[in-house]
Amino acid sequence: MNTPAIEAQGLVKVFGSNRAVDGVDLTVEAGSVYGVLGPNGAGKTTTIRMLATLLRPDAGSARIFGHDVVRDPQTVRSLIGVTGQYASVDETLSATENLVVFGRLLGLSPRAARRKAAALLDEFALTEAARKPLKSFSGGMRRRLDLAASLISQPPLIFLDEPTTGLDPRTRNQMWDTVRRLVADGSTVLLTSQYLDEADQLADRIAVIDRGTVVAEGTADELKASVGHQSLQVTVARGDADRARGVLLDALGHEAASTPLTQGVRLTVPVERSGPVTDVLVRLHQAGVEVLELALAKPSLDEVFLTLTGHTATAAEASASATPTSPEKVLA
Ligand SMILES: Nc1ncnc2c1ncn2[C@@H]1O[C@H](COP(=O)(O)OP(=O)(O)OP(=O)(O)O)[C@@H](O)[C@H]1O
Ligand SMILES: [Mg+2]
Repeated sequence: MNTPAIEAQGLVKVFGSNRAVDGVDLTVEAGSVYGVLGPNGAGKTTTIRMLATLLRPDAGSARIFGHDVVRDPQTVRSLIGVTGQYASVDETLSATENLVVFGRLLGLSPRAARRKAAALLDEFALTEAARKPLKSFSGGMRRRLDLAASLISQPPLIFLDEPTTGLDPRTRNQMWDTVRRLVADGSTVLLTSQYLDEADQLADRIAVIDRGTVVAEGTADELKASVGHQSLQVTVARGDADRARGVLLDALGHEAASTPLTQGVRLTVPVERSGPVTDVLVRLHQAGVEVLELALAKPSLDEVFLTLTGHTATAAEASASATPTSPEKVLA
């Protein structure tokens, strides 16, 4: 067994009367992407700050690659990179200068620091802005620079606190590619996100945090399965409904629920896997049933989130993906 990148047990942080983090357990395997989801104020940033030795836990313990964050903070710091939720770079310096300063602080030679800065600016599409002072940067450019700064030393464990908040879709995709590259190169990434699809796309495992505790943990598929199975929805002409129901029962072993529509009837059957769906389509065709519409509806991470925490990720997220129950794939 490899030593986990992160092992936290019963982490607690209290601010006044607010138990911001209230007994968080986490295990993150080395070489994986781990997603931490939770509504505003759930305790995500506070948890990261404790894991990154920036904040002392009031109770519990955490080890990074086996090194205790309280007893051995120097070693832990040598193994991690942290990007803040807010850019933490110098306003008056240019993008290049900022990265060179970071590189020098991390012990790179002036030449190596400049080479590294140029490579990172290229990766984050900041080459054109390289000489401009930070004051003139947009929010998205700052976040990219902040992230670039945290990657100078290519640490084994990287904490990304909402790495793509406020980024345009293209830059967000670029970020995702960067995260995948980091993991392919052997790093471990823990990221927090308000975007459920981000965790769905990137994370090997996900912890959902609410009010300072982990309320669910697993792969995206496990979390979705815990909320409910996907279902097959077949819309057929009224005259075909009985025959179609027979085919579905035969093929999938479940009685279909019927919903009368203005045009035809929608039959809904739970399915464990999407595999048999093509088979069902063939059988319906053979039985002379005309399929007007076929869809596979999967519970989304939004539904998982809503079920577990009683609220959506954020108001913005809710309005951005306002149809959590809509069919994910229309197959015909
Ligand atoms: N330094 C601090 N002093 C006092 N209270 C704090 C401090 N830092 C965080 N808190 C409180 O602790 C709770 C958890 O905050 P935290 O920033 O960890 O949440 P979060 O999950 O990162 O939220 P967000 O999604 O908004 O970033 C909140 O109630 C917050 O107000
Ligand atoms: Mg936060």
